[in-house]
Parts: sequence; C-alpha cells; structure tokens
Amino acid sequence: MNTPDDKKKFVREKFSAISKDYDFLNSLLSLKIDFYWRWVTTRMLKEFPEGVVLDLCAGTLPLALELTRQAKKRQVLAVDFCEPMLRAGLATLPKDERRARILPVCGDGEKIPVASASCRGVTVAFGLRNLGRAQEGLNEMQRVLKPGGKLLVLEFSRPRNPLVKPFYNFYLNRVLPKLAGLISGDKEAYEYLASSIAKFYEPEELLAMMRQAGFREASRHPLTFGIVSIYLGVK
Ligand SMILES: C[S@@+](CC[C@H](N)C(=O)[O-])C[C@H]1O[C@@H](n2cnc3c(N)ncnc32)[C@H](O)[C@@H]1O
Repeated sequence: MNTPDDKKKFVREKFSAISKDYDFLNSLLSLKIDFYWRWVTTRMLKEFPEGVVLDLCAGTLPLALELTRQAKKRQVLAVDFCEPMLRAGLATLPKDERRARILPVCGDGEKIPVASASCRGVTVAFGLRNLGRAQEGLNEMQRVLKPGGKLLVLEFSRPRNPLVKPFYNFYLNRVLPKLAGLISGDKEAYEYLASSIAKFYEPEELLAMMRQAGFREASRHPLTFGIVSIYLGVK
C-alpha cells in the first residue's frame, strides 16, 4: 500500500471479501459494545431530529439504522464505495418504515456525491481511518454540511491507561486477527484492522485536521477506556 490509491483499492477489496460476515464478526469481537458506541454518537445529533444526515462509510448500515431509530423524521444518505457492504446491509434491514428513510448511495468519501450545504449532520463510524486521504474526506464532509451542522467521527483510538493498554494490544494484535481470520477466511483483513489502528492519527492531530477543514468547536469524547473516541466539529 504505497499510495493512497493503493490503500483505497486494498480497502475496497477487503471489505468486499468480508461483507457477509462483517456484522456477525463486529458483534462477536466487540461483545456488542459497538452498538453502544453508535448509540452515543447518534445521541450527540439529537438537536437535529429532522432533515438529512449523511452517514459516510456507511458499510452494512448499522449507524444509518440507529440514526433513523432515534429520530422518526430523519432521513439518512448512506454513502459507501463498497457495493457488497451496502447490499449486505440492505438485505438485513428490518422491514419497517425506517427502510424508506435510508437511501444507500455508492460513492467515494473523498469526492462525496452530495450537494454542498445540504446536510444537517455528517456521521462517519470506523471509516475515516480507511480513507486514502483523510484530510480530503474531512474537507468534503465540511462542504456538504449546512452552516451550523455537526460532524461526528466515531473512530478507534489507542487506550493510554497502563492497566488496559497491554490487554487491549494483545487482544487486537494476537487474538482478533486469528479468530476473525478463522471465521471470515481473511486473516489479512483483520491484520489490516490492527495495523490501521496503530498507524492512525493521534487525537490532537485529528482535531487539528478538522480545524484545518473549517470545523469549529472541535472536541474529543473518549469512550470505553479510550478504545474509541467520538470527535465532534461544527461548521
Ligand atoms: C469498518 S467499515 C464501517 C462501516 C459502518 N460505518 C460501521 O459502523 O460498521 C468501513 C467502511 O468504510 C468504507 N470506505 C472506506 N473507504 C471509503 C471511501 N474512500 N469512500 C467510501 N467508503 C469508504 C468501506 O467500504 C467500509 O464499508
């Protein structure tokens, strides 16, 4: 993965390969805590119960679903560049009225196929780390937001607590790739997960990138010993 485009190609291939097992593995590997993380992220958009929210890197649509569950008049544009992930999500969406409020769109997060200043909120869960060019993605998220709109980035961060850190690192680097590799048949995808978390920006760097993209009030909200963080910015 020498260039950003190499990374994009690799990422798209890996998510295509694991799309059918993604939800099951997510729940298993995170012991379903990921549902809580998406719930908290969605709660942080509660001042925008109506209008359009863009869920970028929407994958199998778990956050899109939570966004429509918490606000009955909200519509969600669910953008992802990996069609098999969106299709896997669509196949398991509950057959209720929320379906009609989720619009899946195949598109690139570095060139979002959405009009400028059209969304009340933008969410991206476990997606920013996967972009080839994260700064371009942030610039695009800022472009599509209405003035006053909110960005929420849910992403893995590295716990600093000396009691938690060694256990977390052992789990992430040793247990997770083997277990997930056995189930999905693609160990490389989960080795990539561990290495992409290790290489991802420090929280302060990410906040600086958000400010550079034009977001104000940029702040970080760590959850579960800092294993993940929610980054908030306002246009
Ligand atoms: C780890 S999954 C997260 C899915 C979902 N947001 C969740 O919370 O489970 C990351 C998703 O980002 C998507 N992705 C990565 N790079 C992208 C890009 N440049 N444009 C659009 N989607 C991208 C992948 O296809 C994948 O579905």
